[in-house]
Amino acid sequence: FPLKPYNTFGIDVKARLFARFDTVEELQELLRLPELRQEPKLILGGGSNLLFTKDFEGVVLLNGIKGIRKIGEDEAHVYLKAGGGEVWHAFVLHTLNMNLGGVENLSLIPGTVGAAPLQNIGAYGVELKDVFQELEAVHMETGEVRVFDNEACRFGYRESVFKNELKGQYIVTHVVFKLHKQHTLNTSYGAIKTTLEEMQVQEPNIHHVSAAVCHIRQSKLPDPKQIGNAGSFFKNPEIPLSQYEELQKLYPAIPSYPVSETTVKVPAGWLIEQCGWKGKVIGNYGVHRNQALVLVNYGGAKGEDIRKLAFEVIASVKERFGIQLSPEVNIM
Ligand code: EPU
Repeated sequence: FPLKPYNTFGIDVKARLFARFDTVEELQELLRLPELRQEPKLILGGGSNLLFTKDFEGVVLLNGIKGIRKIGEDEAHVYLKAGGGEVWHAFVLHTLNMNLGGVENLSLIPGTVGAAPLQNIGAYGVELKDVFQELEAVHMETGEVRVFDNEACRFGYRESVFKNELKGQYIVTHVVFKLHKQHTLNTSYGAIKTTLEEMQVQEPNIHHVSAAVCHIRQSKLPDPKQIGNAGSFFKNPEIPLSQYEELQKLYPAIPSYPVSETTVKVPAGWLIEQCGWKGKVIGNYGVHRNQALVLVNYGGAKGEDIRKLAFEVIASVKERFGIQLSPEVNIM
């Protein structure tokens, strides 16, 4: 079964078996099938955070659970429950139409609602965990449904329990979001402010912020429909403040975001650009010209080539700065 249409990197690989489920019951039935029980399983949402390096010798399960509905309300919030198979940006547009605040900064992130909690998607000063109420997930072995609240998900920077202790054990079927009736805009990220100024917006609202975010993303990040990619390929590394101060002596322009009293995050894009990778083209793949954190497939590249490139990038950043980058994308 061809997987090319199901991964935003556009890697041409196959899965031995493929099934799609549109309800929790259908998923549970699939998990009970004797011919699937022993198969390795891969759950696909939008396929926007993975790099295939070979055919998948197992069953790919495509989450097709749709629907967004209001399930509750209190003075300040509206609770929306969305199917894991909903396209993330479609969900964001739905919240904007209902004039609910909270996810406008997360506009245009590729992928699905069900995949969003796995890596606690984030952008422009907001993370999924800020609006997350709970999720429902089905256990791969038992088919049992379990509810995880915010704490149980153990969200971190592009991290959750589902990438760690519970890796490969649960399939997220629904997510409940806690959205705001009164809006507190987060325009702390410099480019949002300047874009709103360029748009000549006097009193910005969530719709303006969403438009600004879409504009910034479209100018920096390649559209996977045109150029294969999976967004940031690497995480921004956290380093000790002492190491940062040493590096600052050599590279006064090195940017950073504070994390704690003793650690800072350094933009991996800057480190990679300094090593001369930005815009590098190697045949039909390379490093994006507007954002060095993004690896791209110009068409027909092998996943293995992109993986090798990623490890060359990691090695050169390590050699030059003594900083270990790690991939954000799942390498299969
Ligand atoms: N920079 C460079 N060269 C580059 C890219 C970045 O020098 O080629 C430096 C610049 O100093 C720039 C700074 O890095 O000011 C930050 O760049 P940017 O605003 O593009 O953000 P980022 O830290 O590179 C992170 C997320 C993005 C998210 C943006 C905005 C990670 C791994 N990536 O990138 O998330 O959209 O912030 O919040 O944390 C994703 O996860 O797929 C993703 C795109």
